[in-house]
Amino acid sequence: MNNLTIFFTFSLLVSLSHAIEFDFCVGDLNLPRGPQGYACKDPANITTDDFVYTGFRGERTTTSNLFRNNVTLAFVDAFPALNGLGISMARLDFGVGGVIPIHSHRTSEVIILATGSIIAGFIDTTNTAYYRRLEVGDVMIFPQAMLHFQVNVGTTPATAFVSLNGANPAIQRTTTLFAGNLPADIVEQITLLSNEEVMRLKRIFGTA
Ligand SMILES: *[C@@H]1O[C@H](CO)[C@@H](O)[C@H](O)[C@H]1NC(C)=O
Ligand SMILES: *[C@@H]1O[C@H](CO)[C@@H](O)[C@H](O)[C@H]1NC(C)=O
Repeated sequence: MNNLTIFFTFSLLVSLSHAIEFDFCVGDLNLPRGPQGYACKDPANITTDDFVYTGFRGERTTTSNLFRNNVTLAFVDAFPALNGLGISMARLDFGVGGVIPIHSHRTSEVIILATGSIIAGFIDTTNTAYYRRLEVGDVMIFPQAMLHFQVNVGTTPATAFVSLNGANPAIQRTTTLFAGNLPADIVEQITLLSNEEVMRLKRIFGTA
């Protein structure tokens, strides 16, 4: 074997180490978290309940935020059995006119529309937008890390479910520019937005 082969073999063994050592590794959220995820909950304490997530049940209100959405995440923190398995889900509810503002994840995302009618899309690194009106049952994929969004274009609320190929795919919104600690003058320089507009957006998304 040449060095490259050894390297890739080793990388594969490291990334599959969970799969080799255990059938599963339900995360113990009380233990420290590493780059591969949480340490495993003691198998003696694992029951079927660990593998069932019931958080998608019921109705959602979509009136309490500006974007008229309600997002329920079944990521590893809410569903620790996902730990190490490279998969997660979320439920997206849209009021009439509701949107999920443009954002990205560390992973790819596949969406299926359960009720209503939405426009879903993503934008690639050449500025090409791929977007389409989805009807119930339609599925669309947003490739890894691409900025993507959804808009309810129907006359009723809409609900969609997504799955992401990471247990902790994270959400990075472009509104992060205004939500965090980056000073307004730097935001202005790196976006060409006016001070007035930056302060308006900081009031909406941040703590200014
Ligand atoms: C199982 O959980 C109980 C209650 O949380 C705890 O007291 C006990 O130490 C756990 N058992 C094992 C084997 O970890
Ligand atoms: C989402 O819907 C649930 C159930 O109606 C509600 O308790 C919760 O506050 C809503 N969250 C947002 C952000 O609107």
